[in-house]
Amino acid sequence: MTPSTNDDTACAAEGTRAYWMPFTSNRRFKRDPILFDRAEGMHYFTPSGEKVLDAMAGLWCVNAGHAHPHITQAIAKQAGELDYAPSFQYGHPRAFELAERLVALAPQGIEQVFFTNSGSEAVDTALKVALAYHHARGQAGRTRLIGRERGYHGVGFGGVSVGGHAGHRKPFGNLLASVDHLPHTYNRAQTAFMRGEPIWGAHLADDLVRLVQLHDASTIAAVIIEPVAGSTGVLIPPAGYLRRLREICDEYGILLIFDEVITGFGRLGRAFGSDYFGVVPDMITCAKGLTNGCVPMGAVLVRDSVHDALMQGPLSTIELPHGYTYSGHPLACAAGLATLDVYAQEGLFGRAAAIAPAFADAVHSLQGLPHVADIRCIGLMAAIDFEPVAGKPGARSYACHRACLDAGVAIRMAGDGIVLSPPLVIAQQHIDQIVTTLRHAIAGLD
Ligand SMILES: Cc1ncc(COP(=O)(O)O)c(C=O)c1O
Repeated sequence: MTPSTNDDTACAAEGTRAYWMPFTSNRRFKRDPILFDRAEGMHYFTPSGEKVLDAMAGLWCVNAGHAHPHITQAIAKQAGELDYAPSFQYGHPRAFELAERLVALAPQGIEQVFFTNSGSEAVDTALKVALAYHHARGQAGRTRLIGRERGYHGVGFGGVSVGGHAGHRKPFGNLLASVDHLPHTYNRAQTAFMRGEPIWGAHLADDLVRLVQLHDASTIAAVIIEPVAGSTGVLIPPAGYLRRLREICDEYGILLIFDEVITGFGRLGRAFGSDYFGVVPDMITCAKGLTNGCVPMGAVLVRDSVHDALMQGPLSTIELPHGYTYSGHPLACAAGLATLDVYAQEGLFGRAAAIAPAFADAVHSLQGLPHVADIRCIGLMAAIDFEPVAGKPGARSYACHRACLDAGVAIRMAGDGIVLSPPLVIAQQHIDQIVTTLRHAIAGLD
């Protein structure tokens, strides 16, 4: 440990030392902590009562807005009725009810739901289901998993292995064996400031054919990608790219997994990205907006044919030796059911679709400001990239984030840029506030 580490730790604000914060520059944060202690609708409130507009829906999850009374009341009621019940060889009605509701929302052909507690667990579960599926069908040699550069699939060993964020992989050694990656689809020279799906890049899907030729299809279990890569900067798939990946997977018997932890539940103005792009995968991983972020929960939505292949052997067989103590937790199920009610009753997916063009117009109006290198927007997701400062990666995004926060708007940094993903209940005045605040913050960047 270097002396500067000790000095940095000594600078921590009182009461902040014990909590080792996730994905946070802990020493920087603790010198100048940012705390929220209440939230409602589109806003957070700080302990001193300042109101902050949430332009990130928490962490891409509070799609129906904060503290929605229908959801919070459902959780409270559930806690008083059934706090916990195991999901191994027992059940409770809410888990079955939520699974049916999710199947009704999912693309046709996807009819099974496996509950987890997070997006990371959903990803690792989907990867294990893919391996078990091929094993059950007598193709146990299909163990290779294909991810994509600049993909983010959470923090489990499976998810990091198929993930394509170099910085997230580096400290953790070899990760899973038998993993390969497709190239990411971002090319600034070809697509900068393009609106919606880029018309360049569909050919990049053919790299999967190259990987099939390299490794042989008999070794490949599944391909996992985010329909729109979220955390690494809203990378929108080129028009036709996802359809081509589906065709190649079909041709070679490879399962296709869409990680919809961000794109699920209305972020693109439809229930799932799969609906938006008109391509149905074999499994969808989801979390976040599933419970409006109120109670941790994830899920894997699975095609019938994949599930059915595993339903073999005597009745006493545990067909998939996998699950979590809190899979289908009653509070999460209550939150999920109430969240789906709100999405339907308030027409939030349609509302997101209706306001998305105004959101895109506003964000794209920032083109031409100093240091702005690209802007991408789809549904209610947007990214603004800055030209990096030599030797200071992320400096402009941090400065922009702090300036916005000081002006009462919470945005998220992503590398040398920022991302926006507001709650679906956003209105025009919120869009105006976000973009005006960003305009000032960007104008002030060095
Ligand atoms: C696409 C994607 N997959 C997986 C995850 C991991 O989800 P969690 O943080 O709930 O484990 C995330 C989180 O942002 C995500 O964006």
